[in-house]
Amino acid sequence: MSTGFVCIGAVYIDTILSVPKFPNEDEKLRATGHTRRRGGNCTNTLEVLSQLVARGEQTKGEPRAQLYLLSVLPERPSADIRFISQSIPKVNIDTGCIFREGFENAASSYIIQAAANNSRTIVSHNPLPEMTTQEFIDGASAIWKQSEVKQHWFHFEGRIPVVTEASVRWLTDKFPSAKISVECEKPERDYMVHVAREADVVFFSKIWAEAQSYNDPWTFLGAQIKDMKPGAILVCTWGSAGATCVRNNTHQAEDHEWASTTAWKPATGPLDVIETIGAGDTFIAGFLYALNREGEWTLQQKLEFANELAGRKVSQVGFGGLSEQMRLA
Ligand code: FRU
Repeated sequence: MSTGFVCIGAVYIDTILSVPKFPNEDEKLRATGHTRRRGGNCTNTLEVLSQLVARGEQTKGEPRAQLYLLSVLPERPSADIRFISQSIPKVNIDTGCIFREGFENAASSYIIQAAANNSRTIVSHNPLPEMTTQEFIDGASAIWKQSEVKQHWFHFEGRIPVVTEASVRWLTDKFPSAKISVECEKPERDYMVHVAREADVVFFSKIWAEAQSYNDPWTFLGAQIKDMKPGAILVCTWGSAGATCVRNNTHQAEDHEWASTTAWKPATGPLDVIETIGAGDTFIAGFLYALNREGEWTLQQKLEFANELAGRKVSQVGFGGLSEQMRLA
């Protein structure tokens, strides 16, 4: 089935400073590396997704998927837009995005990547006024009208919970065949839990679960599942401990389908952690791809696919060439 993937979220331009260890306040520290690249959760996901769908088309003859970004961006004729669109050449940004006149710069993130403990500390700044519900409706309607696909999948990074909730409500009302996934990553956006109840797939982060005093993904997901839609899948990634997911088969706890995996590591030895920036976004790309394109896989296989993809990302810089390292069938 041909799918239109629409990712809704913010686009960042990341400046990554590699340092031996995280600096003390007021310290002067020399970086060992400096990189500027396009980031942002949903664009990172789209970049990896576009590799996977291209590879699926080439190697397995899968029908063409269409990829859309629905995001607030600076004005169309800006250098930042050129930079962003060159980084995701297979993604349509023109149909759904909101180009803010008078703004030349995209949101930026300054990321301190410390080798000593593999931490990546992010300080970000977004000068662009956030998307309104009406802007989402306009963008989504334009995409729906333009795309020639049978199935639409809307993935929400979940930025402004109230807008996300209204957008999801509108989608389920207007286009009930659309599938919806949401990310509950930052605990301070706790209102996202209301949005999660409307979604087909929810991606929870470890820090989200921990902020609610859970110490493991099973107990956390077990406590959420009863409030979710029948058939919904809840996923919780747990950093170096792997990932767990559960499908809400009915409202009978014993009928829920569980899958769990430890963190991926290469057959040849332990995982060499090179860069964790965007590992969660890569996991989401893998899971969405597996759900949509690999219908014959079990839930466990889908989870393992996403987990391996994220593990492979962690062992390299950036996202290039990830799909070639994966077995698609
Ligand atoms: C990684 C990332 C970066 C971006 C930041 C935004 O997940 O998307 O690329 O700068 O998070 O929060």
